[in-house]
Amino acid sequence: MVEVPGPLSLEERVDHYVKTTKYPRSLFVSEDGRLVGTWIMGNNYTVRSSYYGGYPAGYLRRIKALFPDKKRVLHLFSGRVELAVLPGDTVDINPALAPTYVDDAQTLTGVPLESYDLVLADPPYSIEDAERYRTTMIKRNVVMRALQRLPAGAHVAWLDQVLPMYRKEAFDLDGVIGMVKSTNHRFRVVTLFRRR
Ligand SMILES: C[S@@+](CC[C@H](N)C(=O)[O-])C[C@H]1O[C@@H](n2cnc3c(N)ncnc32)[C@H](O)[C@@H]1O
Repeated sequence: MVEVPGPLSLEERVDHYVKTTKYPRSLFVSEDGRLVGTWIMGNNYTVRSSYYGGYPAGYLRRIKALFPDKKRVLHLFSGRVELAVLPGDTVDINPALAPTYVDDAQTLTGVPLESYDLVLADPPYSIEDAERYRTTMIKRNVVMRALQRLPAGAHVAWLDQVLPMYRKEAFDLDGVIGMVKSTNHRFRVVTLFRRR
């Protein structure tokens, strides 16, 4: 990662994103102080690992460009995430994927959350999706509660079709980015939370 003194303002994050990705400026800081916008993934939507529900190509590069100041990244619901693009530790409930931590995202008892400043979360979106991983569907609010152990200023980039329920005393809603993949794919939203 490029060394940039942090923490950055949301405007600086957007500027860094545009400068490093060279994608069009489709992110803005709204008058109410949130990062808002849309990512149209275009033709670049294939999942390199071919893992079911894996991040579309380009997703990790975009997130990395928004958070150049982050020092330790945790991939939650990590699956077969491409660590070469955004290095970090991983958490998955499936030991066959050989994550750094085999743990349930709803408790994270074995994960030293206090030492991470950026969490990427990519949960199953529905019971049907969870069945593909042979897991039960998570309770999003319970995962968000577990993430309250993150240090102040840490960000969570949560990719989903739902805004997870969270405690306003614990997290600020820093941003919302709509994500369009390609025809006949579900719309998704990246919600950016900041631990207060
Ligand atoms: C949508 S996939 C993530 C894919 C990943 N973003 C990638 O690029 O490969 C969801 C992952 O969540 C894991 N999972 C499901 N329930 C979980 C839980 N309660 N705790 C931790 N991981 C869980 C599944 O094993 C699966 O690998």
